[in-house]
Amino acid sequence: MKKENWLYGASVYQIYPRSFCDSNGDGVGDLRGIIGKLDYIKALGVDAVWLCPIYASPNDDNGYDISDYQSIHSDYGTLADFDELVAGLHARGLKLIMDMVLNHTSDEHAWFVESRSSKSSPKRNWYHWLPGRLDGSGAGTEAPNGWQSMFSGPAWEKDVATGEWYLHLFSRKQPDLNWENPVVRLALYDMMRWWLSRGIDGFRLDVINFISKVPGYPDGANAFTHVANGPRVHEFLSEMHREVFEPFGAVAIGETPGVSPELARLYTDPDRKELDVIFQFEMMDADSGPRGKFDARPLRGCDLLGIMKKWQEGLADRGWNSLYWNNHDQPRVISRFGESGLYREISGKALAAFLYLQKGTPFIYQGEEIGMVNTPWQDYSQLRDIESLNFITQARTETVDGKRVWTDAEILYGIRAKGRDSARTPFQWNRKKNAGFSEGVPWIAPHPDWSTINAEVADLRADSILSFYRKLLAFRKSEEAILSGGIEFVDTGTAELCLYRRFALADDGRRAVSVWVGANLSPRRLVLDKDGPWSGSAHPALSNCQTVAKAECWQPWELRVWYGL
Ligand code: GLC
Repeated sequence: MKKENWLYGASVYQIYPRSFCDSNGDGVGDLRGIIGKLDYIKALGVDAVWLCPIYASPNDDNGYDISDYQSIHSDYGTLADFDELVAGLHARGLKLIMDMVLNHTSDEHAWFVESRSSKSSPKRNWYHWLPGRLDGSGAGTEAPNGWQSMFSGPAWEKDVATGEWYLHLFSRKQPDLNWENPVVRLALYDMMRWWLSRGIDGFRLDVINFISKVPGYPDGANAFTHVANGPRVHEFLSEMHREVFEPFGAVAIGETPGVSPELARLYTDPDRKELDVIFQFEMMDADSGPRGKFDARPLRGCDLLGIMKKWQEGLADRGWNSLYWNNHDQPRVISRFGESGLYREISGKALAAFLYLQKGTPFIYQGEEIGMVNTPWQDYSQLRDIESLNFITQARTETVDGKRVWTDAEILYGIRAKGRDSARTPFQWNRKKNAGFSEGVPWIAPHPDWSTINAEVADLRADSILSFYRKLLAFRKSEEAILSGGIEFVDTGTAELCLYRRFALADDGRRAVSVWVGANLSPRRLVLDKDGPWSGSAHPALSNCQTVAKAECWQPWELRVWYGL
């Protein structure tokens, strides 16, 4: 990333508006709720806010199914509230990134309503329509190909009006837009410019590497290989950059599942002008088993070291990494790769520092900074997420050779470990009713532990995870070696102790002082050799323990950052 880019050096705070703060007691978070919390966000030390979708939507997928791109969902407020939010952020020196869904709309969007009305509709080719294939009996038709949607079940839906099928890579209420049609692209670019003209500073582009599908829709169960990183994706992204981002100096953050470091370099090489930074999912997929995402395999932070190294080295000279542990689609990191009991705060601090001091842009998801953890869901009526609910329905009936593929216990375990609802429980502000999130009945139940885990108590304690995040973000910003310097991972000979150093080059090309970052990303106490790369770590510049007794002894989840050569 070039230093002139406003995102360079910045860290970003992600807000899931539905669950952040409810100002009017209807149980749903809203824009005025966010406006009331801007000082809290500023105090964290971030530079920008990424707002998950707030557009009009029937909420089949909580706003990622947009029915009108240019209006605000009444749950969240009005355009006047939105303008006030932008002004409030800018007054505090914070930028605003809006989430934008360009791969699909809601089936209730006027474009799709028009498109589905007849085969000769002027908007017919704004979406992907195909006749069905003759089924085995020859009497009826079945889906045009075997593609499965990302939310379980076929990716095609037969529409009664014309008898043809439309493509939906996500829910059947999220039909995919046809990017091959230039008129669609121009309409989207116009809409994005309208938002940028209102003063926003960039977009996070939802599943943006799915927009170009392989022509002819080749058959196969795995849609992914035919829609991710498709043949025209780079062409579409450069066009959008030229038409939308460049004129406004806005940033483009792409969600890009299934990318390799090679592809990520193409997407984020500043000279190619496509995207500024991408989200890849390799760490997020690491704990999935052969049966997919919900087939959860427990991992600890240290098990992810190889993936971090691969991405840091892969994008060392070209391209730009995002650094994240959480978002609205992922379970809480402490429950997932750390420990939610005794070591809740200390493991959360270690995971945060070990990742956010690498090279790239940190994205912190609401509640992460106070150490929120997964909800131990008891019964499925508490769940709200379409992905989880579809999975449960499918898994309960899936059989091979007459035997169930999933036991009930495995389904519950998978939902608790990987379901998206744990990320979406209300932000825990204080010890009051509903964690201070709402005076009404929250749309999703708050985590039961809000009286101990909340922002108010965390703010009072100098050693809380919240205080640590503030120190960490300030430290990161103060060190040019961390923002732009090189990174070298150092083998410690002990799988649990993860270590790297960040270094800037002095004018004469020699390495100046390095910043060393070491963490025991495990619950095991480590006693190492006296002489090792950690020997200078007894007086750390940043750490998550009170004191270091001996440089070679590492407490469970201990983190140290120190200066050395
Ligand atoms: C992205 C979003 C996710 C959504 C999906 C479909 O992955 O982050 O929340 O369900 O796209 O829009």
